[in-house]
Amino acid sequence: MSNNNPIGLFDSGIGGTSIWMEIHDLLPNENTIYLADSKNAPYGQKSKEEIIQLSIKNTEYLLNKNCKIIVVACNTATTNAIKVLRANYHVPFIGIEPAIKPAAINSKKNIIGILATQGTLNSELFHQTAEKFQDTKIIEQIGHGLVSLIEKGEINSKEMNTLLHQYLEPMIDANIDYLVLGCSHYPYLIPQIKKILPKDIKIIDSGEAVARQTKSILSERNALNNGKENGNVIFYTNSNPKILNDILESKYKVIHKDF
Ligand code: DGL
Repeated sequence: MSNNNPIGLFDSGIGGTSIWMEIHDLLPNENTIYLADSKNAPYGQKSKEEIIQLSIKNTEYLLNKNCKIIVVACNTATTNAIKVLRANYHVPFIGIEPAIKPAAINSKKNIIGILATQGTLNSELFHQTAEKFQDTKIIEQIGHGLVSLIEKGEINSKEMNTLLHQYLEPMIDANIDYLVLGCSHYPYLIPQIKKILPKDIKIIDSGEAVARQTKSILSERNALNNGKENGNVIFYTNSNPKILNDILESKYKVIHKDF
C-alpha cells in the first residue's frame, strides 16, 4: 500500500459527503475518491443480502482505483455488510454506526432518540450496541422517505418539514435530551431539525469520530499521506450529478459513471 493511494468512501448516495467533509477537514492532503451509488438509493428498505451485494460492488470499484482504506460512509451498509467486507478483503474498513454510546453516556434524562433507516434499526449490529445501554431508554424512529427527498435535492421542502415534525414530535413528547442522527444523509437536515427541537435537546452524529478513526488507523499502519499539497478529490455518481454538485457547491470534480 502506498501512502499516496486514495482513501475510498462510498454511500447509497450523497449523504456520505457529510463524512467525506470531516475526513477532508482533518486530512486535507489525502487523495480521496467518493462513490455516490444514488442509482440504488435508498438502501434503507433493501434486504440485508441486497445491501451486501451493493457494498461488494462499491468496494470492488474502489479497490480497482487502488484505495488504501475504505470508509463505508453509510450506517445502513455498515450495520448490514461490514462484517462480510472485512472477511473478504484485506484492506482496512472504517464503518459508521449511530452514535448511541456518546448520547447514552451524556444523557442526563437517560432518554435518547434515534432517527435512522429501517435497515440500520433492524440490523443485528445496531441491536447489539443498543443492548449495552440497558439504563437508557432509546426511542427509535425510522426516517421513512427522508433519504429519497434528500437525493431529490428537497432538503427544505414542505414535505420534508411535515415528515420531520411527524418523526420528531413523539420524541420531544417522550422527553429525550439527545437526538442521534443514525444516517449519513441526515446531517444535511440539521438546520430544519433545529427549528423543530427545543434548544436543550442535543443533536449528535458520527462524522467527526469516523474521521478521527480513519486518521488513527492510517497512522497505525504508517499509511498517512505525508505530502504537503492538498489531496486530489474525485466524486463519482451513477445518477444525475446535479444534486451532488449542489451539495458540494460545485467546488470539486464530479464524474458521472455507471458502476
Ligand atoms: N446514508 C445512508 C445511511 O447512512 C442512507 C441509507 C439509505 O440509502 O437509505 O444509512
